[in-house]
Amino acid sequence: MAKLKEVGYAFVDPEFGALATSAEGEGWGRLADLDRIVQKVKLLVLGSQELAGKKVLVTAGPTREPIDPVRFLTNYSSGKMGFALAEAAMLRGASVVLITGPNHLPKIEGVRTVEIETARELKAAVEREYPDTDILLMAAAVADYEAKKVAPHKLKKSGANLTIELQRAPDILASLGKKKVDCIHVGFALETEKGHANALKKLHAKNLDLIVLNNQLEAGAGFAGDTNVVSILTKDGQAEKLPQLPKSEVAEAILDRVCALVQQRLERVAAG
Ligand code: CTP
Repeated sequence: MAKLKEVGYAFVDPEFGALATSAEGEGWGRLADLDRIVQKVKLLVLGSQELAGKKVLVTAGPTREPIDPVRFLTNYSSGKMGFALAEAAMLRGASVVLITGPNHLPKIEGVRTVEIETARELKAAVEREYPDTDILLMAAAVADYEAKKVAPHKLKKSGANLTIELQRAPDILASLGKKKVDCIHVGFALETEKGHANALKKLHAKNLDLIVLNNQLEAGAGFAGDTNVVSILTKDGQAEKLPQLPKSEVAEAILDRVCALVQQRLERVAAG
């Protein structure tokens, strides 16, 4: 191994656990998880150091707002877009923290993942990680409303109708937008009508650098699928519509724009 490492071979180390036969018991020697092997190959083949030294904070997936101990309000977000962004940022050399709501996606090797359920938990986790963050990619589909009172016991049915009072959940991106100094903020807007106008309004209201607009009603776009159709809008009013692409390629396109912003800032600092 020492010789091979010397001439440039990379290794995926074995894992600890039950070995092939019961006589062998447990130990270091299990074949590495396939996801880890694939991740390592991707890193070697596709990896760059474009974001080396940068901390990227990504949020993904839905939030769950409880109503009682057995029920909650949520949305159809799968987390795929946020996971694709986290992986793409990691492959560009960034140190990545992924804060995610409930999902069915495989863990990403090399990305520190934090699991949350409610918008309030997401806010607390984001605020913990935010201070040394260089780039914030807010792909989570955060609940706008939460139950005003969470019932301590299961709500029993009675009467024909049920009214649950909701109150505004904290708007994480809007409150961080007020504190923003150097961090690049990217938001997402999921719209079903007046996409550009609504997205631009959010971009300004939340003090974003970029906003990624997609329309849930458009074929190939939105929550559950593996593809997305997005437009990327900038502060100066430019909008670029991308074709239908796999979410991994949408993530690359978003990171290309983010890296261009990072570069512009460096040049501005260098120019004094
Ligand atoms: N967002 C957030 N906190 C919330 C709601 C949204 O940080 N409570 C973030 C999302 O992660 C996303 C962006 O804000 O990046 C836009 O979210 P969206 O729900 O589309 O916008 P809203 O401002 O909530 O507007 P509306 O629901 O009225 O369309």
